[in-house]
Amino acid sequence: MIRTSPILMCPPRHFEVSYSINPWMDPGHGVVDRDRALAQWQALRDLLAQWSPIVELEPVPGFPDMVFTANAGLVLGRKAVVSRFYHEERKGESPYFQHFFESRHFEIHPLPDAIYFEGAGDALFDRGAPRLWAGSGWRTDRSGHGWLARTLGCEVVGLELVDPRFYHLDTCFCPLSDGSLLYYPAAFSENSQSLIAERIPATRRVAVETQDALAFSCNAVNIDRAVVLHAASPALREALEHRGFSVQVSPLDEFLKAGGSAKCLTLKLEEELASPGG
Ligand code: ARG
Repeated sequence: MIRTSPILMCPPRHFEVSYSINPWMDPGHGVVDRDRALAQWQALRDLLAQWSPIVELEPVPGFPDMVFTANAGLVLGRKAVVSRFYHEERKGESPYFQHFFESRHFEIHPLPDAIYFEGAGDALFDRGAPRLWAGSGWRTDRSGHGWLARTLGCEVVGLELVDPRFYHLDTCFCPLSDGSLLYYPAAFSENSQSLIAERIPATRRVAVETQDALAFSCNAVNIDRAVVLHAASPALREALEHRGFSVQVSPLDEFLKAGGSAKCLTLKLEEELASPGG
């Protein structure tokens, strides 16, 4: 049985694109329509609330990217690792996230010094095996993966991201509840593509085309049989439906201006390792 975890979200009352830390962000052109962003966020929240309790974090002025709660940290059971952001612009979010995890009585495991780690944006649990997939290349340090494995007590498979448009692992990689994987292979180094293929057989991999990848279709929220995403081509919809998933489109183009979409706007607060061969 898949548990329906509560989901942390942060309303976009202070959301804007006022700096650029990834290729999607263009403060000159990508002006956010705040009301539209609020409406899109609310629609996503309402959709997810059908399956999961939503926990809201108070947004803080001056931290426009705080809406992307996937980057708050990573949780497993009662353990939480709070993010240390690579970019100056987001570093000030960490104390608010830390305070949140403390208020929920998580056991906080401080990162080793000088290790960057951007939370569930760069670290996703496999749903079919007791393993964590961890991205590196743009934000999170590869050298922190060993510490994560020891702290969480599971296998950590490091994946190298090579395309700057897919700078967080969750922009191009989404483990699904049946143990399969939705992903965009070209975002990964050849070696990382092999690491994936060695662990997930071809019949369990749903590889998206570039057009879907650029529409952030891998940045999906998967709750049991539901897959919630910004957009899906007919081919992708069919591939997911064929696997028994119900595809739920929730337009989030205001957030694409900041390089984020559905999954980035959420953090599951109850995570557990899948059982071996589960
Ligand atoms: N503008 C944000 C950044 O570049 C977007 C974060 C998206 N979050 C994610 N989990 N992919 O940091």
